[in-house]
This record gives sequence, structure tokens and C-alpha cells, in this order.
Amino acid sequence: MSTGPQHGLVSLRGLGRDRLEGLLDRAQSYVGSLVSSELAGATVTTAFFEASTRTRLSFDRAAHRLGAHVMDLSPDLSSTTKGESFKDTILTLTAMGTDLFVVRHWLADAADLAAEWSGRPVINAGVGRREHPTQTLIDAMTLRQEFGHLDGLRMAIVGDIRNSRVARGHLEAFPTLGVKLTLVGPTPFLPNHNPWGVRVSTELDDELGDVDVVYLLRIQNERGASQAIPADQSYARRYGMNAERLSMLKPAAVVMHPGPMNRGVEIDDAVADGERSLILDQVANGVPLRMAVIAEALGGTG
Ligand code: NCD
Repeated sequence: MSTGPQHGLVSLRGLGRDRLEGLLDRAQSYVGSLVSSELAGATVTTAFFEASTRTRLSFDRAAHRLGAHVMDLSPDLSSTTKGESFKDTILTLTAMGTDLFVVRHWLADAADLAAEWSGRPVINAGVGRREHPTQTLIDAMTLRQEFGHLDGLRMAIVGDIRNSRVARGHLEAFPTLGVKLTLVGPTPFLPNHNPWGVRVSTELDDELGDVDVVYLLRIQNERGASQAIPADQSYARRYGMNAERLSMLKPAAVVMHPGPMNRGVEIDDAVADGERSLILDQVANGVPLRMAVIAEALGGTG
């Protein structure tokens, strides 16, 4: 099994279209696949220092389907609670035989640090406000399944963009894949700078008729967002996706959300559970997409 410094997947920045599409193709080839022995003998360690449902469990399932062994560090139950540092935790798990780390952390450079300390490939499962690259790839995969292509699609990303690592991943990869992005939200939720040069709008209702995808984000209260804008009915009235706004979309347009959803705030039941929603398709694609990223990081045959 591979050792020494490797490239995992920390960021999508600068990745070319061929590399991104190659990952999506590989992920598509894993859809519906059964357990294989492709990575038999490998150990994947998941280390999540922030809450997660979909991401941690789908990485776990993905690694199992490739035949790898999974070690899961639960920081709340580990010696982290006794004051052990992040670095010592990573060194300990490396010494135990980890071949690949999957890291979620509140620090934006946690994945880079884990790679440096361990000398192992690291997959970023969401670090700080930086990026959540596998979520972005899942969403690209889901849209490609829905529309058959990505080139020329228009996506409005709506909500707490300033605090969102998901939005940052999207900004790094979707333009490369030919998707035109518009960032929509109240000013305190929009990024201070726009190095991506994408469209920005504070008026959701003006955008709805033009887009193929409405991508909703949760208000990240744990990152202080609700001090800027309360996650209440006034937000829902102006930016919440409801049945009326759904009727303003083009007939083929779809609604996405990375989860976890706050129903009644950014999304109503009629939308979340409606025909235009791809939310559970996104969840389902988490497993094959993460299989592709793990297999690539560990040099599996594929
Ligand atoms: C997101 C995250 O943790 O970055 N969730 C996810 O992994 N699908 C988004 C969020 O927490 O709102």
C-alpha cells in the first residue's frame, strides 16, 4: 500500500476539466457496484472534528465497498477530550497504519497539516470555510445525470455564502465545468470579494426565471451567521424556496441542497419533498463519488 507524501484531495482550485470529468466518470462507473477487493488491505481513517451525518457515513460506506478497512476517530470520545493535540492525534493514527485520512475540521488548513504530518494522502471532508470538494463533485455528478451535460447550465447559489465551504468548492470547480454561477443572498451573506468574477445578486425573485439549478444553503449559525441575519421568517420570506417560488422556475429547473436542511427557513417541505428536488440523489451519489476519490488517492485500479 502506498506510503510517503501523496496527493489526496484537499482543494479543487486549479484542477482542469479533464481531471474533474475523469473523477465524475469514475464515480459514475461505481454506481450500483457491490463490495469489491480493489483496496483490500488498505486502512482509511475518518477523523471528523465537526458534526456530520452524510459525509462521514458515506465515506465509511465508500471505503467498505472498495474492500478497505475503516478506522473512525470520534473526537468527542477520544483523547482529544484529554487535551491531546490535533498533531499528536494524526501522528498516533499514522503510526497505527493509516493509509489515507479523511478529515473534517474547523481549521481551514487542517487537511494540509494532516498531510504534512502524516505523509499520507488526505481527503478534505470540509475544513473551516474553505472548501468541501467531495460535496462539489457529488453535485456536479448529480447534475450531469439530470441534464446529461454541465456546459452552459446556470446555477444560483442562495443563502449564507460567506460562511459556506460548499459554495467555495463550487466556485472553484463549476466554472471550469462550464456552469455559470450567480451568488444570491442578503449583503451580509455575500462574499466580501469576488475573485471568481461571478454574478452577484440580492434579489432571488429576479434570478429564478433564468436558472437551471437553485442551490440552497443553510444559515450557518455555528459560524456566527445569525448575528448578521436571523434565521427566521423574514429570511424565509425573502430567500426561502417555497411553492410560489418553485412556480417561477423554468419547467426543467431543479432544486439542490447539500444538507442538513433547516425546513421552514431556506426550504419549505413542498420544495424539499417535491418533484424538482435532487436532494436525495445528491445523498445517494455521495457513496460512488467518494469511492472514486478514495480509489484515486490510493492508486486503486478502477
Ligand atoms: C455542509 C458542511 O458541513 O459543510 N454539509 C455537508 O457536508 N453536506 C453544509 C452545512 O453544514 O450546512
